[in-house]
Amino acid sequence: MPDGGAAGADDVALDPWGSSTVSDYRKLFEQFGIEQFDQVIDEVPNPHYLMRRGVIFGHRDYRPIADAMRNDEPWAVLSGFMPTGDPHIGHKMVFDEIIWHQQQGGDAYGLIADLEAHSARGLTWDEIDEHARDYVLSLLALGFDPEEGDLYRQSTNREVQDLAFELGIEANFSEFQAIYGFDGETDISHMQSVTTQMADILYPQLDEPKPTVIPVGPDQDPHMRFARDLAERMRFFKVTEAFASFESDPDVYDVVGSAYETLREEADNRDIETIRCGWAAQYLEGGIDAVSWEIDEMPEKKVEESTSGTTPEQEAKNQLREAGKEPLRPRTRFFARQATDEAFDALVEAVDGEKRRYESHVDAFEMDRVEAEELAREIEADHGGYGFIPPSSIYHRFMTGLTGGKMSSSIPASHISLLDDPEEGYDKVRSATTGGRETAEEQREKGGKADECPVYELYAYLLSGDDDEFAKEVYDECVGGERLCGGCKEQAAELMESFLEDHQEKREEWAEKMEDLDFEFDVADGRAGGD
Ligand code: TRP
Ligand code: SF4
Repeated sequence: MPDGGAAGADDVALDPWGSSTVSDYRKLFEQFGIEQFDQVIDEVPNPHYLMRRGVIFGHRDYRPIADAMRNDEPWAVLSGFMPTGDPHIGHKMVFDEIIWHQQQGGDAYGLIADLEAHSARGLTWDEIDEHARDYVLSLLALGFDPEEGDLYRQSTNREVQDLAFELGIEANFSEFQAIYGFDGETDISHMQSVTTQMADILYPQLDEPKPTVIPVGPDQDPHMRFARDLAERMRFFKVTEAFASFESDPDVYDVVGSAYETLREEADNRDIETIRCGWAAQYLEGGIDAVSWEIDEMPEKKVEESTSGTTPEQEAKNQLREAGKEPLRPRTRFFARQATDEAFDALVEAVDGEKRRYESHVDAFEMDRVEAEELAREIEADHGGYGFIPPSSIYHRFMTGLTGGKMSSSIPASHISLLDDPEEGYDKVRSATTGGRETAEEQREKGGKADECPVYELYAYLLSGDDDEFAKEVYDECVGGERLCGGCKEQAAELMESFLEDHQEKREEWAEKMEDLDFEFDVADGRAGGD
């Protein structure tokens, strides 16, 4: 199976097309900057049980979503599915995440990644059509509202393809190599499926920029980082903050900022209005007593370096000496990046208060950063730009396979398909691996290992639904030794059986209404079959 060559690249720890399991979720926080979901959960009005139970364990930038939810502002949720096999209980988590966000008031999108399945997995269009139908029916059966939300497939969404093309202008092969481990053997269509996914992720913002959350597994995080980057690159303007004409890295900026604070106070005492950059260099060099307070007494322009690299302090001094007599004054800066001349003119015009225009940036002295960001987005939208807000994401834990190890579509006993006969689902749960002890006696004495038990996971991730008390009861009884695996599995198996019965009934009801749906179920006709 083509995997984009990512398997050979040691530094690609998260591979969207690989089969790696995540052994240590903590690493994701440290290495990739995913934040713990715990940190935002209190800001979510009515958190989903997967959030409450830590199954959704991480996020990127979820705050704007929580804010929009609370303030009743527009926002969206979108996720996509490769139709490579039957939808199973792992996918159900993502379906539920989309549906819950839809119920909380988000514009909801569910998409079938058929171009990706065809190019990266080599499925035929006939197979793809069959699976696409199954995914859509399950999503609907679980509660997705197609009147309010959007269902689409990549291959028939012209707007997504056009957007993918535009985004492709901002992406190049070296990045694909670095992010995905692509190499000279990777086929072009696989690469195209990446820009298509980037377009999927930004598609909810085509009409109007809005916070958008993408619920995914952590393996998709490389896509999220790339999408956030591209969203930024498409922007007309970049808003930054500065104290003078030069640009500083954040830690250098902080050094300059604190020098400014001290000098401002002292200058006010002395009735001096304009502070000079050179004085700040003098201050950083020798303290407040070293400041000349004279425009004609500027420090020498020398560059300080040390063998171990330049410290933020040194860099700040270098920049400030270089700027010399230039006034030191906080300002918000708009850089023109993708902006047309017309848009730049309009922006300069629209900046309130004192401003200074340069060739490709404008400094505003009386606007804070938040106002500036808003203005930049407004001007951009008025002049044909996208104004994308970097998309947010949430990450859920992968379910353990029923046989232990990874839950995989290619190992039927490891997962429960949403299409499995209810009795088959019952049987699979009955034969699942558990976190139980060797003997009933030992179990009563020491308690079961619920934290390592795939059956307990079924309870927590699915069978308890919204009922936290029930989930907790199973857990407590297990670890307390009151619950034995035989009965526990029997209960889980029965719950699974009735879940599947109910789910499949609803699927059938939707199957009868398929013609009314705005979704193209058959694309195989007229397309080349195989891979
Ligand atoms: N690549 C995803 C997968 O392998 C599918 C996908 C396509 C997707 N477009 C997306 C997921 C947009 C989230 C958002 O399952
Ligand atoms: Fe798992 Fe239930 Fe056995 Fe506990 S009692 S180990 S939860 S099967």
